[in-house]
Amino acid sequence: MSQIANKGFILIVDDNPTNLSVLSEALASKGLRFRVAVDGESAIAQAERNQPELILLDIQMPGIDGFETCRRLKTNAVTQNIPIIFTTALTDIESKTKGFVLGAVDYISKPFAQEEVIARVRVHLRLKQLNESLEQQVRDRTAALQQAQVQLVQQEKLSTLGELIAGIAHEMNNPITFISSNIPPLEEYIAGVTEILQLYEQEYPHPTAKITTAIEKLDLKFVLQDILKILTSFKVGTERIENVSNSLRTFSRLDSDTKIPADLHQGLDSTLMILQHRLKDNGNRTCIEVIKNYGKLPEVNCYLGQMNQVFMNILANAIDAIDEAIVKDTMSHKSPQIQITTETDSQNQVVIRIADNGMGVPERLKQRLFEPLFTTKPVGKGTGLGLSIAHQIVVEKHNGTLEVNSHIGMGTEFTITIPI
Ligand SMILES: Nc1ncnc2c1ncn2[C@@H]1O[C@H](COP(=O)(O)OP(=O)(O)O)[C@@H](O)[C@H]1O
Ligand SMILES: [Mg+2]
Repeated sequence: MSQIANKGFILIVDDNPTNLSVLSEALASKGLRFRVAVDGESAIAQAERNQPELILLDIQMPGIDGFETCRRLKTNAVTQNIPIIFTTALTDIESKTKGFVLGAVDYISKPFAQEEVIARVRVHLRLKQLNESLEQQVRDRTAALQQAQVQLVQQEKLSTLGELIAGIAHEMNNPITFISSNIPPLEEYIAGVTEILQLYEQEYPHPTAKITTAIEKLDLKFVLQDILKILTSFKVGTERIENVSNSLRTFSRLDSDTKIPADLHQGLDSTLMILQHRLKDNGNRTCIEVIKNYGKLPEVNCYLGQMNQVFMNILANAIDAIDEAIVKDTMSHKSPQIQITTETDSQNQVVIRIADNGMGVPERLKQRLFEPLFTTKPVGKGTGLGLSIAHQIVVEKHNGTLEVNSHIGMGTEFTITIPI
């Protein structure tokens, strides 16, 4: 007969030395590891400390009997999943039934037949292993399913939102173009009209009283100067709207099925533009200074829309961390700051670091940041999805890495690397 693999041990509970030696010899002959307990109480204590794979439990013992021992083991969360086989001289049906009712998986009658002991132990060890692997599989699948669901929902939201934003950006474009494209001719016309007015003044230095009054009433000199200023502000304003519209379009870029070469700086900038309102001073704090240490980056083959989502999630968290530090008053001597550093490294990767000087992350939570649904923020504020999605996009979609480095109270730095 082949050896039965068992990593753990079997606990034999019996007060009778002869029974103990028969059972232990049987197990030892097959290379099975075992420990012994000579009464119910110490069996429970042992099983709690160190869970055996299986318990061989005698029924008649001094102190609490096997039935009571079984009952206690089955009501204890730590020991309740350990299979119990009763070893019993009691051959009456009632005792056997009672054992099963209490949760035993089998019984072996005394006097022991070595072959029977081994056979039954074998079956139940195997059953337990199968059971455990099944449970593990269910846990793994459930986790995978949960993750897939989270991603699906998020992707669905993102693509809807992306389409909406792209649509708005597109619709904004037409009216802005009406205005911006008409500014140069308007400038020209006004210059022309001004010139003619000046010419009139020169050629007819003494206009009628009616005209003089009208000129004074309007304050013509001021109006002519102010028109130029107004035109300039039109230009600045439309340029700004055009920038926003371009950022929205870059940001919401609906990704194609394949990666395309893209400028990650453009992605970072459009994300910052969209977050502009959150960076401004908000009554509690001064505006967050964004320091860009942009290196020279080549275009990177990527899904830019998704990479923007990564930047957005990390930058939004950085702003949250600064705001939280302000509320908790842990940055009285610092002015709020976000630093973005980009470079290429020796392994032909793009490296992007986004660092804030906010709250920081406690050491014990660092491992959990990328878990789906992990959040330390109040309900309604945090979803716990940002970093898990960022991680998935960087690692799975772009074969990159996403790492966090943080010191509580000092700040946090996320490092993204993407192969070029
Ligand atoms: N820059 C940061 N500084 C401090 N903590 C952070 C930072 N970024 C993320 N965290 C922590 O990681 C958690 C998970 O982040 P995330 O997945 O984006 O979910 P959410 O922002 O919805 O909570 C946050 O709740 C926060 O505790
Ligand atoms: Mg977040």
